Amino acid sequence: MTLHKQCLIVFLFYTFIQLCAQERSSIPEVQELLDKMTLDEKIGQLNLLTPGGGVATGAVVSKDVENKIKSGQVGGLFGVSGPDKVRIAQKIAVKDTRLKIPLLIGSDVIHGYKTTFPIPLGLSCSWDMELIEKTARLAAIEATADGINWNFSPMVDIARDPRWGRIAEGAGEDPYLGSAIARAMVQGYQGTDLSHPNTMLSCVKHFALYGASQAGRDYHTVDMGKIKMFNQYLPPYKAAVDAGVASVMTSFNDVDGIPATGNRWLLTDLLRNRWGFNGFVVSDYTSLNEMMFHGLGNLQDVSALSLKAGLDMDMVGEGFLTTLKKSIAEGKVTEEEINRACTRILEAKYTLGLFDDPYHYLDSSRPKKDILTPKNRQFAREVAARSFVLLKNHKAILPLRKNAKIALVGPLADSRNNMLGTWAPTGNPDLAVTVIEGFKKVAPTATIAYAKGANITDDKALAKKVNVFGPRVVIDKRSPEAMIKEAVDVANSADVVVAVVGEATEMSGESASRTDISIPKSQKKLIRALVATGKPVALVLMSGRPLSIPEEYNMPVAILQVWHPGVEAGNAIGDVVFGNYNPSGKLSATWPRNVGQIPIYHSVKNTGRPNPEGKYEKFKTNYLDVPNTPLLPFGYGLSYTTFAYSNLRLDKTEISGNQSVNATVTVENTGDYDGEEVVQLYLSDVVRSITPPKRQLKGFKKVMLKKGERKEVTLTVSSDDLKFYNGNLEFIAEPGEFVIYVGTDSNAELSSSFILK
Ligand code: BGC
Repeated sequence: MTLHKQCLIVFLFYTFIQLCAQERSSIPEVQELLDKMTLDEKIGQLNLLTPGGGVATGAVVSKDVENKIKSGQVGGLFGVSGPDKVRIAQKIAVKDTRLKIPLLIGSDVIHGYKTTFPIPLGLSCSWDMELIEKTARLAAIEATADGINWNFSPMVDIARDPRWGRIAEGAGEDPYLGSAIARAMVQGYQGTDLSHPNTMLSCVKHFALYGASQAGRDYHTVDMGKIKMFNQYLPPYKAAVDAGVASVMTSFNDVDGIPATGNRWLLTDLLRNRWGFNGFVVSDYTSLNEMMFHGLGNLQDVSALSLKAGLDMDMVGEGFLTTLKKSIAEGKVTEEEINRACTRILEAKYTLGLFDDPYHYLDSSRPKKDILTPKNRQFAREVAARSFVLLKNHKAILPLRKNAKIALVGPLADSRNNMLGTWAPTGNPDLAVTVIEGFKKVAPTATIAYAKGANITDDKALAKKVNVFGPRVVIDKRSPEAMIKEAVDVANSADVVVAVVGEATEMSGESASRTDISIPKSQKKLIRALVATGKPVALVLMSGRPLSIPEEYNMPVAILQVWHPGVEAGNAIGDVVFGNYNPSGKLSATWPRNVGQIPIYHSVKNTGRPNPEGKYEKFKTNYLDVPNTPLLPFGYGLSYTTFAYSNLRLDKTEISGNQSVNATVTVENTGDYDGEEVVQLYLSDVVRSITPPKRQLKGFKKVMLKKGERKEVTLTVSSDDLKFYNGNLEFIAEPGEFVIYVGTDSNAELSSSFILK
């Protein structure tokens, strides 16, 4: 054999090995397209920009977007909406670029598009998965009608620290409830056919552990062991992946010392290799660039690190766009790594049907037909009512008579700007129904006198920070004393007082952490003055987080927690306050007695010196100043009626293998109203190889019971519900005794046990 032939054989062999090593797309059209692309064009696909117009949540907004699209430097846009506007951008991409690759059009549709639903934390309190899925479906229909094909939702970060403002955006503290909600939302957005023009790609965020930011300070460090991660914080992300979520957004925080955006263990070993995720991964807003501040090198270093870790798309920071070519030349990344990321993005576009018709989301007749229709608004009203949690109802102050003489007071009673809640950039606060409007609509025969009573806060510096997206806190020209006096006068001539108090919209949400989570002082004074009149007082409490309200809770009042209820706020509040709907919400996050108890959540472990509820004892796990128990436990929520639980029984006392256990309980409506109850099941794994939580939520069912009605409710504990991640991170169940508790909240008392052989 000549030397020439030998060289040829070696070359062919080498090429063959390289081809085998390359990940090729399983979609021939995508592979064909990729094969035609230049390196610059591939890098362009990894670039996600925003021309502004939405909410810019970082210091940077992309520049020169149009020219960048023309020159093939953009894979997707967000913050652009409306078929006509999106068409302009899409047209540039498919007409003016060499390969005519359409754009992804993203948006933050967090709790409804234009029909704004309650904030996600509120929505989670409905414990109604069908309802939640429907909100996501409707949001997808509205958003796609406006040209959007990719949604940065659901946010599934477990949060056990209500100082963190973004607790508002998620489903609270519990991995079981959080996982169910993650599944429901992904299904709602993506439907069963992503190429249909009313479904969209969902993006689960923020991967991972963002909700565990130290001290509740936003974007802060996270430090967590793997056992806690796997058992408590990762399940909702995994549930979204198992439900087929198309994309994942990284979080700002570090995970075990490496920021999520450049964390290979997280993005490749766990997400792809262990969980089998095959969509694409996008960074959060400039989170790639922010790795420089985390101390991981310059922009070229962190971009290379992120690409290698498994990040596919760079949001706004343009680190990929500006450095990857250089990194290839210097051998710091390979073209194969760029191909891999580009393939995933092209595959998403293909799945959406954008290669067949880049304009199929751009039907100008749809917005009018699909967005903010009276039917959608009616649904938002029903959803909002289902998210409210009745925290207290002293002497059955609520519901009110529809012909009552009502003093409607408080800074949130007539405050359109605060009804939508945080992260509602696609909603329009001007369209929201105020509480006063809702009351007049629901109870036209009531006599309603209004007084503002107090500013949301008197602190001008705080007001300025909270008013970034528009006037949320308006400080009155009158003195606080004059405002309280007016409210007290109004109260004195009424039968009953309704005080609408709490947080302004932007007092929670992104970059809105608080170290004092009580009702602002100005409003506390108002509440004290109103209660001092001796009139019955109902507090309608708005907030984006669990608050610390021990003082108000101990007053002789009713408290209806309504979160930030969305576009139909006033109507929904009216429906519940006047008894058209009997509240059925249950807390999805524990309410502390004070900020010092945080982090606080129900699935705590025992210590070696337990003292769960009892009085203070020296050398036991307790505080000198407050009990260990929260003010209001996870799962808690009252109704206008009452429910009695009895006769819990299991269909088996011993199981093995994949067998499940059915727990049946009798629930009776013992009060005077028809109502819904969320029957909850908690499980305790008595002995196991790693310390177990005392109990964990493992089942729930929302049931309707007519006044006087009794129902047998059965909840099933599957073999998977017995499993946990052990010291080797294997998902297993260990033989032994399990105790089932069933009841109305996480303190459920009825119990029965079984053995896993
Ligand atoms: C938020 C994300 C959001 C993104 C784009 C970021 O600041 O953390 O949740 O999707 O901005 O708007």
